[in-house]
Amino acid sequence: MGQNTNELMDKLVALCKRRGFIFQSSEIYGGINGFWDYGPLGVELKRNVKAAWWEDIVRKRDDIVGLDCSIIMNPKVWEASGHVAGFTDPLVDCKKCKARFRADKVFSVVARDGENVLLQTGVEADDPEQARQGAAAAANSKTRRRLEQHAERLDWEVFRADKAPKGTSVHCPLCGGDLTDARKFNMMFKTFVGAMEDSTSVAYLRPETAQGIFANYKNVLDTSRIKLPFGIAQIGKAFRNEINPRNYTFRSREFEQMEIEFFCKPADAEKWYEYWRDARFQWYVDLGLTSSKLRLRNHEPDELAFYAVSCADVEYEFPFGISELEGIANRTDYDLSQHQQFSGRDMSYFDDDTKERFIPYVSEPSGGVDRTMLAFLCEAYCEDEAPDDKGQMQKRVVMKLNPRLAPVKVAVFPLVKKEGMPEVGRKIYADVQAAGLAGFYDEKGAVGRRYRRQDEAGTPFCVTVDGQTLQDQSVTVRDRDTLVQERIPADKVVEYVKERVS
Ligand code: GAP
Repeated sequence: MGQNTNELMDKLVALCKRRGFIFQSSEIYGGINGFWDYGPLGVELKRNVKAAWWEDIVRKRDDIVGLDCSIIMNPKVWEASGHVAGFTDPLVDCKKCKARFRADKVFSVVARDGENVLLQTGVEADDPEQARQGAAAAANSKTRRRLEQHAERLDWEVFRADKAPKGTSVHCPLCGGDLTDARKFNMMFKTFVGAMEDSTSVAYLRPETAQGIFANYKNVLDTSRIKLPFGIAQIGKAFRNEINPRNYTFRSREFEQMEIEFFCKPADAEKWYEYWRDARFQWYVDLGLTSSKLRLRNHEPDELAFYAVSCADVEYEFPFGISELEGIANRTDYDLSQHQQFSGRDMSYFDDDTKERFIPYVSEPSGGVDRTMLAFLCEAYCEDEAPDDKGQMQKRVVMKLNPRLAPVKVAVFPLVKKEGMPEVGRKIYADVQAAGLAGFYDEKGAVGRRYRRQDEAGTPFCVTVDGQTLQDQSVTVRDRDTLVQERIPADKVVEYVKERVS
């Protein structure tokens, strides 16, 4: 698209607000950092993303069943899972301006020319190279010139705030003040259950949906008569008190997850892990993330959590950088063993065929609804040209969302608001609604402008009732992406759209 990435993100954020995809939460009170609301178009897109996942993961398979468990659970769940002790991010504060940062996302960057320090600053970044580039780009013009002039002989020293050598100070990326030493910050939101607000009534808003699945593993096994290998799937809200929510909805404090825990025999665990890693990657491709911006990254052994033997991330190149959409991990029997130990309940599985008893291994594909939506929105955003009412080519913004995900599937317009066209249009719209398709009826303004509004909403088909409709009951269907207009019988609109949006 030839535009810089910040510009693209700014345009997308503006479109999402203007067209009602995403609003800042409690905006009338100045908002609240890390929380977002989905508007009329956004909620349809979100429901479609979740419905596509549920259909593909639960409804179309025999080996996965669904679950919907409570957000607040017995706090022992989070002791067993390790979240009470270990669900922490390293935190640093600025001693001067009191700003807070994730210590693993702040770098100290020093550039030396022999004895001379040309640059010494703190910068927020994801990795050392990004930090070095960010620090150089943010320097004043005189420093930048000197960095360029002496580029060959410069010594760069870049380290993360939480890995700073003892006695070295790291500067605040905002005001240049000194940062504190890093300390652990637990990201679980605490609350109290019942009338007493003391340590005995502390509970947590779940930071992931996965533990609810493990806690219900025996219930599901005993009630659904399902046999290994099988999975339990859940979609639901999760809450994390992120130190620095950022990049729009990408890192929020309240978000939704789509998680599968797929249980199997220990000997089959790697095979199932590979199956899920590849299947989950393909799911994003099938729903429209077809560009080279989507990738699958296997974790290096030193990145693995201590209980996981394999892990991979589905990553997307957002305008603000390459980041994780979903993680797929072979978590061994760690979670069920922990819950067996902490609850005293037997989590083992008895294999009728081999007469063996064991704790199943689990593969976990864990994705985020909000991140997935953001990736679909980024991928869909397009600027091209389309003719206006006078046939002149005009710049247009179009959201090329997969029809299965598009918030509105078909818009119906009478060409003019007279000569019986609105009546025919309303009849078609009523058929669309009766068929359970998300439709939109619009009879106001120039038809070109109506098309343009639907392009921005990502509506794949626009049906227009015109003079010819009144003679032969045919309508035009305009394709959002190709702009090709096809004539079809008015009573075939529902069938035409249904075939193309499922
Ligand atoms: N049960 C494993 C688990 O929760 P995770 O990598 O911490 O793993 C899984 O989270 C997914 O949840 C991520 O890939 C991402 O899509 C989503 N997610 C995690 N934290 C998020 C946040 N702060 N905002 C939005 N989505 C988030």
